[in-house]
Amino acid sequence: MRILYVVGTRPNFVKTAPVIAAMRARLPEGRHAIVHTGQHYDRLMSEVFLEELGVPAPDFMLEVGSGSHAQQTARTMERLEPVIEQEKPDLLVVPGDVNSTLAAVLTAVKMDVAVAHVESGLRSFDLTMPEEVNRIVADRFGSHLFLHSEEAMSNLRAEGIGPERMHFVGNTMIDTLVALEERIAAAEAAARLDLSPGSYLLVTLHRPALVDGPLLAETVAQLSHLARQMPVVFPVHPRTRKMMKALDDWTEPEGLLLIEPLGYLDFLSLETDARAVLTDSGGIQEEATYLGIPCFTLRANTERPVTVQHGTNTLLGLDPAAIAEIPAALAERPADRPEPPPLWDGHASERIADILAPPDPELLSA
Ligand code: UD1
Ligand code: UDP
Repeated sequence: MRILYVVGTRPNFVKTAPVIAAMRARLPEGRHAIVHTGQHYDRLMSEVFLEELGVPAPDFMLEVGSGSHAQQTARTMERLEPVIEQEKPDLLVVPGDVNSTLAAVLTAVKMDVAVAHVESGLRSFDLTMPEEVNRIVADRFGSHLFLHSEEAMSNLRAEGIGPERMHFVGNTMIDTLVALEERIAAAEAAARLDLSPGSYLLVTLHRPALVDGPLLAETVAQLSHLARQMPVVFPVHPRTRKMMKALDDWTEPEGLLLIEPLGYLDFLSLETDARAVLTDSGGIQEEATYLGIPCFTLRANTERPVTVQHGTNTLLGLDPAAIAEIPAALAERPADRPEPPPLWDGHASERIADILAPPDPELLSA
């Protein structure tokens, strides 16, 4: 079996690393080729993840870089097509909902290559989100749709997708977290930043709806204000850094710890030890749910309502003023940690391997 795995952004590496490992273990004689589209390219957005998560060096680097949606998607398609021609894969595996995902799915389907979509069925029902368009396309054309929650199944059913394509396997991002738990615990990132575990708010924000317009300045002002009550540490995504620098009269706000994006182990160490998280990230809503860390999501909606129902997530709305409510909400919050959602147990990738490459029954009975 010849498999092509296409990844391109920070969350893609986290979701795909355990799938590649499970598939390689299951099919040691198979061809497992990795394509890195280059959508994310800074060392702290890319290389550090490959190293820490033990992803083998990519076989193909497409180096598409940044650009408009059309440029990024078109460049990826143009550069992926000859790779598919050369590799002739039986299957292309792609995670998530980024532009690299969209481009990979469109290229593969037009070349008659079957697609496995990891993290299928999420819907925000907000078509102004670029990711929503990407998800719908990936699920429309994917042959194997791997779902991490029951609600994903009802979303796909409502779009007329047949049950034979859907597989409820759990969350591969949580597989990575579980696999690296000991190394995360050993990282002790809080101490290196002079933060006491359980005391601080960890912030990440990068969605265009929040950071590409006037809400960014308002959000930073609210965070500065909050920093008088509790330490606030904010590893800044490159999109957000670019938008901060473009603000009129931008100066580093006092009291806020604005730092570079962190590698996976340091970030998860900070997340595990945080009093709470404020984010607009998809993945961090899920990790906080698993870890039982209170999460406040600064968005109008979430494609991951499972994190609200089963977890610790509170949707604040797209409203920076709501940041001021966090201390009171924390004071009222029960201390108990909800059970993680079903199948968020560290074994989702093995279930994917069971479906894509079922164990040989003769070997099992031998
Ligand atoms: C992308 C995804 C988003 C995902 C996020 C994860 C799309 C449409 N968006 O958003 O769904 O949640 O990744 O982090 O695919 N930049 C750098 N260095 C890098 C990468 C980006 O400086 O290594 C800067 C560039 O100025 C670039 C901007 O960040 O223009 C945005 O990058 P892009 O990949 O287009 O979108 P993200 O905001 O990262
Ligand atoms: N992450 C990280 N360092 C950071 C910020 C995030 O390692 O400075 C990890 C985070 O723990 C999660 C993934 O990156 O595993 C989420 O990526 P991001 O928020 O960029 O994307 P999204 O999930 O919103 O698509």
